[in-house]
Amino acid sequence: MATSSRMPIILLLGLALILAISRTTQANDPDILTDFLTPNSSSVDASFFTFSGLSAYYNPNPKNFTVLKATMNEFPALNGQSVSYAVLQFPAAAVNPPHTHPRSAELLLVMLGTLEVGFVDTKNVLYNQTLQTGDMFVFPKGLVHFQYNRNHNQSAIAISAFGSANGGLLSVPKSVFTTGIDDNVLAMSFKTDVPTVQKIELGLKK
Ligand SMILES: *[C@@H]1O[C@H](CO)[C@@H](O)[C@H](O)[C@H]1NC(C)=O
Ligand SMILES: *[C@@H]1O[C@H](CO)[C@@H](O)[C@H](O)[C@H]1NC(C)=O
Ligand SMILES: *[C@@H]1O[C@H](CO)[C@@H](O)[C@H](O)[C@H]1NC(C)=O
Ligand SMILES: *[C@@H]1O[C@H](CO)[C@@H](O)[C@H](O)[C@H]1NC(C)=O
Repeated sequence: MATSSRMPIILLLGLALILAISRTTQANDPDILTDFLTPNSSSVDASFFTFSGLSAYYNPNPKNFTVLKATMNEFPALNGQSVSYAVLQFPAAAVNPPHTHPRSAELLLVMLGTLEVGFVDTKNVLYNQTLQTGDMFVFPKGLVHFQYNRNHNQSAIAISAFGSANGGLLSVPKSVFTTGIDDNVLAMSFKTDVPTVQKIELGLKK
């Protein structure tokens, strides 16, 4: 008798726990209840599902590191479809600084040149690799990662696929050093002094 009356409570607690866990790990696109989402109620045709914004991506001599995006912001038909692309162009010796995509893993394919890539897991273990043209690498969702074209003579181009229509970007240097966090907080956090923090901040403003 006692056990059976306690059962619902245990079930409820279990359910609450499962809900709490799924809530804290929920950083993915919502499921939609229609085939696709349109910006208004007027009908769309195939051109709505077509995006040509990456057609001029092949620049073998980019001047600086550039990212061409095809997320739901550039390509509204992606809204609700949980997919997007980016083309990354690296001049010789260029770096894409450590950053995260809070809502998506990233599947990178090297189309030209070579790239050194790496990510750090929540145990602070670095997983790095040197990729050749044609190699693919997956950066797990939400983890800090970077790409570097160590080759000082040749540019590199990579295409990245994302499992979100808007994976989001959080640049580690920018989010930490260009957002107005108190210099003393940063100096203490990085175990250095305020002038060093200010030197880093100044460099990132250029
Ligand atoms: C509805 O959305 C389509 C697709 O973005 C756009 O071409 C069209 O101009 C919009 N129509 C109105 C009335 O806002
Ligand atoms: C990067 O290079 C492009 C031309 O290749 C230029 O338009 C752009 O201003 C440059 N950006 C920076 C931050 O230097
Ligand atoms: C990984 O990083 C270490 C430390 O920077 C470096 O010595 C090593 O060559 C890298 N490995 C690859 C495969 O890029
Ligand atoms: C890259 O260019 C430098 C200077 O032009 C040259 O000394 C070096 O041998 C080149 N490296 C490769 C791998 O081609």
